[in-house]
Amino acid sequence: MLIVIENLLDAGEVVEFRERLAAASWIDGARTAGSRSVAVKQNLQLDRADPLALELGNRILGKLGTNALFVSASLAETIWPPVFNLYQDGGHYGTHVDSALMRDDASNLTIRSDISATVFLSEPEDYDGGELVIEEQYGGQAVKLAAGDMVLYPSSSLHQVTPVTRGRRVCAIMWMQSAVADAAARAMLFDLDQSIQALSAGRAKDDPDIDRLIHVYHNLIRRWARP
Ligand code: NI
Repeated sequence: MLIVIENLLDAGEVVEFRERLAAASWIDGARTAGSRSVAVKQNLQLDRADPLALELGNRILGKLGTNALFVSASLAETIWPPVFNLYQDGGHYGTHVDSALMRDDASNLTIRSDISATVFLSEPEDYDGGELVIEEQYGGQAVKLAAGDMVLYPSSSLHQVTPVTRGRRVCAIMWMQSAVADAAARAMLFDLDQSIQALSAGRAKDDPDIDRLIHVYHNLIRRWARP
């Protein structure tokens, strides 16, 4: 399931991010690719220790923590800090699957990637190509969103970024470990929670039917959550 979260960053923020990233020290993205991925990856990225990456990455993480739609959709427990990347001059990332286990020795962080995320920072009209194509059960879905919008998709999917043939495509990508590893279970919990939110809007705060649905929601999380 793909979930789009619009306006994670507002218009002013994306302009600021783009201006600051335009002056950043980009390095060859192949440095962080796995042995199979390196053959298909052609982009630039910021070193994870780059102070600009840390500062802008923390601002994105701060936004996620207060975004109700993100929390409901992801049930994220641990988020791999945002990685900023840049595609231009035919840059692309051919079909690949993200590593299931990601480990960073410096911060002693290990996550199982359940959900992958891309925050688009360039406006779609400013570059050609650069679609994020995600293979789903019913075929490939091409995603190219407005600057400031984010897509969440299963880390288990095969996906690619098509060649950027004009302009620059800058984005931030993240991986997260969810409290509910199973994507189908997580999708049902998301649907249930969204319906509870919608139904609650027109009802009393102590409506017993809403309370019972919330009770079911939390007990399903207890049943399905695993470390
Ligand atoms: Ni990927």
